[in-house]
Amino acid sequence: MMNAGLDIVDLGRWPIHALDTPAGTAMVAGLRAAIADRGYATLEGFVLQATAAQLAAEVEGFVDRAWPGIDRATPYYGRMDPPLPDPPPGHPRLRTSPRRMAQIAYDQVPAGNGIRALYASAAMPAFLEAVLDAPPLHPMACRYQSVNISVMGAGGCQNWHFDGSEFSTTLMLQKPESGGDFECVPRLRGPGNENYEGVGRVMDGDRSGVVTIPVPAGTLMIFRGERSLHRVSEVAGARRRLLTIFHYDTRPGLVGSLAINRTLYGPRVEPQDETRGPALV
Ligand SMILES: [Fe+2]
Repeated sequence: MMNAGLDIVDLGRWPIHALDTPAGTAMVAGLRAAIADRGYATLEGFVLQATAAQLAAEVEGFVDRAWPGIDRATPYYGRMDPPLPDPPPGHPRLRTSPRRMAQIAYDQVPAGNGIRALYASAAMPAFLEAVLDAPPLHPMACRYQSVNISVMGAGGCQNWHFDGSEFSTTLMLQKPESGGDFECVPRLRGPGNENYEGVGRVMDGDRSGVVTIPVPAGTLMIFRGERSLHRVSEVAGARRRLLTIFHYDTRPGLVGSLAINRTLYGPRVEPQDETRGPALV
């Protein structure tokens, strides 16, 4: 049993501390099947509503620390994988959509916060390894990227994009009054098939393949976003959308590069010892 750091988790419903028990085994099997089938799993009530509300209230207390970053981006965030030296005008590699979100960096989340405790727990990476059938996962050693809180006020949104990492792990703390939906076109691209035509259609407003994934407050989501184009629709109303993002990696001691961290978190970012691991892209 591994309970340390899991105070905010409803372990009765989601026994991530007891993977070897019948309940733990059944939970992992169900989540693995969901990910194989749909590319994602949602764990509703991972954190009880009241706990999520309390965590959100704490975040509201330091929400002005969030850094807005860039306001538009391509689905690829400028990455060129595979190389495409000279895309023609109008190509999805060159097209951007709005990104109106800010991020709170790891070092801005106060010590003792339940989100930090969950991230640092032994149970969380072990649970993700089991569900994703992944090699051992480690928390990042990065002062900024390890855990982030995405903040979207009225008008906030995230651009259509593919993730650069194999999977993402998020915890919804607070939903807005309306909008702020997680929208996804599952498996729009695959190995050796970038499907730029399909990406262009979605960016033109084609909704035929778009799925909206319900993510109530308190839900943990494990998502494979490398192949599925996704975004967050525009937030409406006064209540902010607050989402925690946990970054684990198979490479121990990973630290984000100075350039990327300054883009994501602003000019206050200081150099770190980057020799412990390669830069996150
Ligand atoms: Fe993403």
